[in-house]
Amino acid sequence: MESAEYHSALAALAWQIELGADECIADTPVDRYAVPAAVAKPVAPDSPGKVAVAPMPVQDRFDPVAVAQEAADAAQTLDELRTALGAFQHCELKRGARNLVFSDGVAGARVMIVGEAPGRDEDMQGKPFVGRAGQLLDKMLAAIGLSRGENVYITNVLPWRPPQNRDPKPEEIAMMQPFLNRHIALAAPDVLMVMGNHSCQALLGKRGITRLRGDWTQAQGRQALPMFHPAYLLRNPAAKREAWADLLSLQARLRDG
Ligand code: URA
Repeated sequence: MESAEYHSALAALAWQIELGADECIADTPVDRYAVPAAVAKPVAPDSPGKVAVAPMPVQDRFDPVAVAQEAADAAQTLDELRTALGAFQHCELKRGARNLVFSDGVAGARVMIVGEAPGRDEDMQGKPFVGRAGQLLDKMLAAIGLSRGENVYITNVLPWRPPQNRDPKPEEIAMMQPFLNRHIALAAPDVLMVMGNHSCQALLGKRGITRLRGDWTQAQGRQALPMFHPAYLLRNPAAKREAWADLLSLQARLRDG
């Protein structure tokens, strides 16, 4: 590199450091899960005057799921779990979200609903199921004498909104799963309503809601009922018939159990 070029590059670097830049990011995104450890070895400056680039974090040194597990296990109350989630920095979704969406309703209620992920309205208000799907959910619950104001607790698999409401990625679900499991343990419901495919994936390890819905099963050591997601019912009103059957099944289970 010509000396003038070198000095202007160095000045540009100093300027960026002045502005607060504290890490090197490449021109194109890097999938760190795919980077072999050997590529990410620290490189020593090979001649005096060259700037040593800080080594990239090597994925195999750091396991975000283990960090999530440790943070979730340490929480002894729902408030502590909310704080632990708020402090968890390793899920990319957090960067694009306005708010953490932790829960709504009555902690300790017999019924706990597990939805998928916040949408726009939930992200803005910091509460699950407050948009159109949430309004339908409230009507469904009211039809069998339940409400989030009295006897239902609600959360989601993911606590941050995925960009453009895209589907949760399997690695996002895996990373947040320890928090979800702990959330269920601390809320200690009798019954889980597992809404939609992504929730079934997280809690039952299965997809295929059309087959799964309506069949009682176990998740996290509790009775669990997979159901159509209310957003699906908004798009497919004909499926409300099955959703109604599932609500009646839930009502009967609560009455008998
Ligand atoms: N859909 C969900 O699964 N959860 C919400 O909170 C809102 C919409």
